Formats: sequence, C-alpha cells, structure tokens
Amino acid sequence: MEVEKPNVLIVDDEDEIREILTFFVKSVYPCNVSEAINGEDAIDQLKKQNFQLVICDYNMPVKNGGEVYRYMIETDQPAKYVMCSSDTPQTFPVFKDSSHLFGYIQKPNLMNGVKEIVEKIKVESTKMSQSSALEKDFFPIGINLLLTLRNVPVDVFIKIAEGKHVKVYSAGSAFDETDFLKFSEKHIDKLYTESLTSKVIFQSIEDHVQQLLKKRTKANQVEAVIEAQSVILSTFKEFGFDDLMVPMVEAQIEETLKICNSDKTLGLLLGKMLKMQGSYLAKHSFMLAAITVALANKMGWNSDLTAQKLVMSSLFHDVFLKESVDNEVVVLKSGQYDGDFLDHPKKAAELLERIPKVPPDTGRIILEQHEVGEESGIPRAMPIHETSPLGQLFTFSHYLVDAILILSKSGPVTYDKLEAQLSGLGGQSSKYKKLMGLLKEIDLF
Ligand SMILES: [Fe+2]
Ligand SMILES: [Fe+2]
Repeated sequence: MEVEKPNVLIVDDEDEIREILTFFVKSVYPCNVSEAINGEDAIDQLKKQNFQLVICDYNMPVKNGGEVYRYMIETDQPAKYVMCSSDTPQTFPVFKDSSHLFGYIQKPNLMNGVKEIVEKIKVESTKMSQSSALEKDFFPIGINLLLTLRNVPVDVFIKIAEGKHVKVYSAGSAFDETDFLKFSEKHIDKLYTESLTSKVIFQSIEDHVQQLLKKRTKANQVEAVIEAQSVILSTFKEFGFDDLMVPMVEAQIEETLKICNSDKTLGLLLGKMLKMQGSYLAKHSFMLAAITVALANKMGWNSDLTAQKLVMSSLFHDVFLKESVDNEVVVLKSGQYDGDFLDHPKKAAELLERIPKVPPDTGRIILEQHEVGEESGIPRAMPIHETSPLGQLFTFSHYLVDAILILSKSGPVTYDKLEAQLSGLGGQSSKYKKLMGLLKEIDLF
C-alpha cells in the first residue's frame, strides 16, 4: 500500500535558507516540500493546499511569521507550525497562545533543529498508530556492531521480505561469535531495529565506549582507546552522525590527546600498537594521531588547538573508508580504487563540519589527507604549495604510518627503510624533506 507523503511548506524570504531547509527536511523526512518567499505567499498557499507541517521564518518583508501563525489558528489549519528564527518564540507576543506552536528551530542550527522536529513528528505519529505494525520503520544495524557491543540493546528483527520483519532477539540478549557466524554464513550482515529505539542504541554504544575508556589502566590504555575507536568508526559508518554521539566522541578525543601528550616515548607506544590485533582503520587512525602530534611539536607547533585539530583529523579522516581496506598507501600505489575511495576525504570533512566544537581548518586537513603532489595526489592532485601547512604535516605523517605498517610485516622498521619507502613522496618536496629530517629527532624505534 502506497502511503501518501506529507506536504511541508517552508517559508523564508532568504533563498539560501529555504534551499538549505528543503535539503535537510528531505534528507530526514520523506515528504513533498513547497516553498513560500514571505508570509503572504505562505497564506496564499495554505488557502490552496493542505499541509501537514509549516516551517516559518519570523521577520519577512510582506507579512511576518506571526501573521501566518495567526491565520492558521483563525482558519483552524491542521498543519503543525514550527517557528524558525534566531529569536525565540517568547520574543513575540503572538506566540503567547502557543497552542498551535509545534516547535522551534533556532537559526543557524538548521540541521539539528530539523532533525528534532522530525523526531518529534515520528514519536507523535507512532503514538497515534501504535497498533499498526505496518507503518513501523525499520532501521538497519550491522552484525559487526552487535558483536562489538556483545549484546543486543533493543529488540532486533530479521528482514524476510520487503516491509516484513521477524523478531530474532529481545532487548538485553547476548550476541557473540556464534551469533555472528550464524548470520554471516548466510551472507546476512544487517539486522533491523525499530527506528524509534535508535536513542537506546546510541546510549548503549555510548555506555560501552565510556566503559572502555573508564576501565582502562595505564597498561591497557592504548588497547582501550583503539577498541573505542573501532566502535566509534562502526557507529559513524552505520548511522552517520547523530548529536547523541557527541559525548562519546569528545571523550575519545580527550583520551587520545592525553596519550599523545603524555607518552614521551613514541617508539614504545608504536611498538605496542604494532603488536595489537584489531582493525587497520582504528590502528592507523590512532598511530597517525600520535605521530602527527609528535611531529607538530618538533616543528614548534605545540598549541593545544593544533593538537586538537590533528587528533580530530586523525581519528575521523577515514570514517567513510571501507573496513576491508588494509593499507591506503598500497591501494593508492596500485591505482585500483573506486569513486568511494576518491570521495572519502570529502565525505569525512563534511561530516566533521556537523560536529559542534570542531576547530576551524580541521575539515581542510582531512580534505588534503591524500594530496601529496601534482600527479599522485587524490582527489584534486593539488600542487604541494597550495596545500596548508597542517595538511602537509598530516599527509606526511599519514604516509609514514602506512609505511611503518607495511615495513613492520617483514622485520624491524628502521629509519633508512622508512626513508626509502617514502622517497618520491610529493616529488621530493622540500617540506617533506624537512619533516623526514625531524623524524630522526623522534624516538621512533
Ligand atoms: Fe584516507
Ligand atoms: Fe588514512
């Protein structure tokens, strides 16, 4: 049965805001969107068509948002009214009667505002149709993540046909290797949860990560942080970014910074990491953080802000890379990569933009992660002198980490072997030569 999509009216006199709101609304809510350029235009459209949701600016040249609100009350419009402004509704007397005010989106936080409103609509509509299982949305959850969590935080279903799901685990059940194998042998890598329980899932992931970070001792600190990194990366991959992840991401950044700042003997730290099992991406990201911060310090760039930018870039630069990649430099040298690989820096940089408190330029560092010079750099093949100083440092450290990972597979890593492995990087740019020289001053091996 085809369910009719709700109609949403977006009212703002600024073209750009309408465009952004339309994009955000459509990205999280299947609906038809109409736009109105001022209050009068909105009222005209409300006369002609039924809407379920109106997202309305306040200050507009021809009839303001308050007039639209009043019109909707007077004509008993069924649409939900959401005010979208940098001012709060309390600022305007018209909203003293808030009976029809469904919500408020504070500019400029449009994305989060839209998500909150959509979440609220979904909660309401579920309450209204709780008995109708047909209308429930299902939300994929990877068996990898369930195995990492070692338990099933919410009821989990298997999809047996389009729109048909059957419960296979109840909330609280354990999930171990046997469960994992049972599904992976059948080539099932995703199970499903009811979308409204996603908050519970995030909470459980968050608890898991915080627990990992809390349980760590001096001896297993690195292992704990790398494991937390695996969980965070798989969560991002599965769910994209959600505000609920902020505390866990912040805790992870703080922990990583602590290790980078406290461990004076980088060599010991690297040695420990090389011996560890675990995903390439988690290890690669974490080693990169340690090396790039150490090199920045050698360059005399030792502000907290620089360390923060470098750590964030390290931890999240490859968040969209496939888990199966086991050495990026090898992939790049082989020339056998696809569009997803080419896009991963851009996608990660865009994701970071959505996380609050990310220092400026972090996105740029991530964008330039593989820009090693005119010919071999991806995706833009930028000349090195056009890349940023922190970008160059990051890219160099990045190739260094992968070189260490390659070399460590066949015996002890030495400075000479590393130099040979990295020769040719960036066409022997003087910037990279300087960094190579500084490497000698770091106790790497
Ligand atoms: Fe990468
Ligand atoms: Fe990378």
